[in-house]
Amino acid sequence: MTIKAIVFDAYGTLYDIQSVAAVTEAAYPGHGEMITQIWRIKQLEYTWLRSLMRRYEDFSIITRDSLAYTLRVLGLRYDEGAFERIMEKYLHLDMYPDANAALAAMKDRKLAILSNGSTDMLAALVRNSGLDHVLDATISIDTRRIFKPSPEAYSLIEDRLGMRPAEVLFVSSNPWDACGAKAFGLNVAWIERVTPEAMALACVKNDLVPPLTMFKAIRTQMDELGLQPDIRIKALSELPGLLKSFT
Ligand code: LAC
Repeated sequence: MTIKAIVFDAYGTLYDIQSVAAVTEAAYPGHGEMITQIWRIKQLEYTWLRSLMRRYEDFSIITRDSLAYTLRVLGLRYDEGAFERIMEKYLHLDMYPDANAALAAMKDRKLAILSNGSTDMLAALVRNSGLDHVLDATISIDTRRIFKPSPEAYSLIEDRLGMRPAEVLFVSSNPWDACGAKAFGLNVAWIERVTPEAMALACVKNDLVPPLTMFKAIRTQMDELGLQPDIRIKALSELPGLLKSFT
C-alpha cells in the first residue's frame, strides 16, 4: 500500500514542549523545570479524564487549568503577567531542529497535523512557525469534542484528507498517541527520543530523580498497552529515507 499522507502529532513531535521551560524558569526562578514537567503530565491527564467523563473543554482551557494546578501544588504565587507570558510561549514553541528539512523532503505527499490542540492554538502555532506554508491541513480534534487516543479523533484524518488509514503514516513521539493510532489502524512511526539505555542511565546516575528524569520515565517510554508501533525512529530526519520501505 502506498503512503499518500504523513500526519504528525504536534506537541512533542514537531514542537518541543520542553522549550517552554525558558519562560517558566524566568517567571519562577528555580522552579521552571518542575513546573514544565508537572504541567505537561497534568495537561495530558486532563485530556484523558475529560474524555472519559464526557466533559470536553478545548486544549487551551485544559492547558490553562493544568498550569494553574501546577503553580498551586508547588505553592507558587499566581501572577497574571507571568501566567500569560507562559501561555503565550505555548503559541511559539520551538520546532525540533530537523522538522523543516524532514517535511521538505516529503512534500511529494500530503502533510498534515492531527493534534489535541484547539483550532485557535494550532492556527497560531503553525502560523508562528511558518508551517502554514508547508502543511496541507492542520486538524484539531475540537470538532469531535474528544481527545486522542480515542478512535473518533483519528477518524478525522480520513474525513479531512480523504485517505484510508492504510494510506497514512502517523508520526508521534508520545507513546500513548502512537499506540492509539496503531489501535485505530494507521501505519505508525514512533519517535523514540529517549532510548531505554539513556533512561536507565539517567535513573541510576541520580539517587534523587530530577523532574525531567521523572517526566521522561512517565512520558517517553513505550506504554504497556498491548500495541507496538510499526517502526521506531530516533528523529524526524529518518522519515524520508524510511518511506522507501513502504511500497
Ligand atoms: C498533541 C499533543 C497531545 O495532540 O501531543 O499534539
